[in-house]
Amino acid sequence: MVKRYAVIGAGAGGLCAAKNLLAVGIEPTIFEVGSRIGGLWVYNNDSGRSPAYRSLHINSEAAVSSFVDFPFPEGTPLYPDTAQMERYFRDYAEHFDLTRRIRFKSEVKSIERTGDGYRVTTGDGKAEEFDGVVVASGHQSIPRHPPQVEGFTGEYLHSHDYRVPEPYAGKKVLVIGAGNSGVDVAADICTVTEMTYLSARSPVLIMPRLMFGVPQSRILVKLEKPWVPWSLRIWMRNMLTRIFHGRMEQWGFRTPKTRTHPISHPTLISHIAWERIKVKPGIERAEGNQVFFSDGSQETVDAIIAATGYLTDLPFLPEGTSPLNGTRLDLYNRVVHPALPNVFFIGYFDVSGGSNIRMMDDQAEYLSAIAASKIKLPSPDEMREAIRADHAFQEKQFPNSPRYGLELDPYRYRKMLARDYVRSGTARSASKPMAMRVDRQVAEKRRQQNSEVSL
Ligand SMILES: Cc1cc2nc3c(=O)[nH]c(=O)nc-3n(C[C@H](O)[C@H](O)[C@H](O)COP(=O)(O)OP(=O)(O)OC[C@H]3O[C@@H](n4cnc5c(N)ncnc54)[C@H](O)[C@@H]3O)c2cc1C
Ligand SMILES: NC(=O)c1ccc[n+]([C@@H]2O[C@H](COP(=O)([O-])OP(=O)(O)OC[C@H]3O[C@@H](n4cnc5c(N)ncnc54)[C@H](OP(=O)(O)O)[C@@H]3O)[C@@H](O)[C@H]2O)c1
Repeated sequence: MVKRYAVIGAGAGGLCAAKNLLAVGIEPTIFEVGSRIGGLWVYNNDSGRSPAYRSLHINSEAAVSSFVDFPFPEGTPLYPDTAQMERYFRDYAEHFDLTRRIRFKSEVKSIERTGDGYRVTTGDGKAEEFDGVVVASGHQSIPRHPPQVEGFTGEYLHSHDYRVPEPYAGKKVLVIGAGNSGVDVAADICTVTEMTYLSARSPVLIMPRLMFGVPQSRILVKLEKPWVPWSLRIWMRNMLTRIFHGRMEQWGFRTPKTRTHPISHPTLISHIAWERIKVKPGIERAEGNQVFFSDGSQETVDAIIAATGYLTDLPFLPEGTSPLNGTRLDLYNRVVHPALPNVFFIGYFDVSGGSNIRMMDDQAEYLSAIAASKIKLPSPDEMREAIRADHAFQEKQFPNSPRYGLELDPYRYRKMLARDYVRSGTARSASKPMAMRVDRQVAEKRRQQNSEVSL
């Protein structure tokens, strides 16, 4: 009998998981709370879970950000916007015959264990049984609010709810957090505000988006060979950035001495140089409209936009089984729940340099191989030990901030997955030539479609 899996979410992770399950003969049903395909890339998504703002563009280059067997169509810009991303995911779903398998407006409310499988209940009260479940509900939907803003009486919102700059025209606005959301939002609003303040509590390296006329990732990938120690890579990134942006201290930031999540922006430094944005250190507290910073300075602002990151929530899992451990997840290889057989997770990571979307391919292929019994998992105790080792590595590699809970070193991670294929005697590389063939066929078909459109 054909096995059936429930997939929660029709974003990048859910679509990719469903496609890979189909490839091993498992029938997926995708549950999606909204009515559109593409998850967080859908601007004004009626799921209420997307943080996409009007000016959002992908920040990893398109050529390396597509799924491996489905390139962006020819003519796609280096960094597509939300409309192009949404179209891409819709095309992917159509191409791999996933659209008819999506149940829109279906929020998964609970998963319960039944004998060998799981009962999945949706918001309309309907329940259905499946052999397994793939959780792909995303981890960038629930805002993490900064406690320091408690006494603030002006307008407050999280970057998750930010859409357009117009409401901030003529105002003084503080953006808290210099992650990729914070720098995007600050650069977006600063041409209309009276003043934009950007608060960075930790050292940050703002890399240019392009170096020598090409995406900076193409330069970094040439220099950062896997055997190059991190101390040298950090030095190289700092030096390269200095060529384009000068020293971070010149603009009010502090240069990181440790490994940090890559931040890049095409115009932020110019806005600071033009004095549309003033960089401030960490915020200590707020009273009325006054904000107090860690260097003793204070500013009066009309609005605060907290770009302070996200919390993961998995409210539908069986009681007592949440893998959340602080901001980390107790999952084997970031995919397998040691206590819930045939429940897999996809997309719960922040790739540290590279594309999250491309990494979904690796996870989806891996979880499908497990579901199809091509990979034999270690015992639950061995998995828990591996999880502890992974957390210990994370603690050593990355700064001690909640933000780094899901950070993922892509090179090390792919090696971790590969070990399970080798241990199980499953030659993953054997499937690669097929993937490459599909890749070329799909690319050719899309080229033809594209030229048909342009004729
Ligand atoms: C602003 C921003 C920019 C980013 N830029 C990049 C980039 O440039 N490159 C890159 O590779 N990555 C980027 N990322 C990382 C991001 O993780 C990936 O791009 C990816 O799209 C996330 O896909 P996902 O499927 O994991 O999550 P989502 O896209 O969030 O999809 C999850 C889906 O699950 C649905 N859902 C949630 N709960 C339920 C439920 N209970 N029942 C039914 N459906 C549910 C949601 O409605 C949603 O459609 C960015 C992230 C953010 C926040
Ligand atoms: N264009 C794009 O493609 C794009 C745009 C936006 C986001 N993204 C991606 O989406 C993910 C989320 O990014 P994000 O920027 O929203 O979140 P994030 O990476 O978690 O960054 C949060 C920022 O807020 C700071 N912060 C958190 N709590 C704070 C507090 N209480 N007080 C002061 N500062 C605080 C953090 O500082 P510390 O470092 O000190 O913790 C950090 O600078 C990332 O993977 C990012 O790369 C991509």
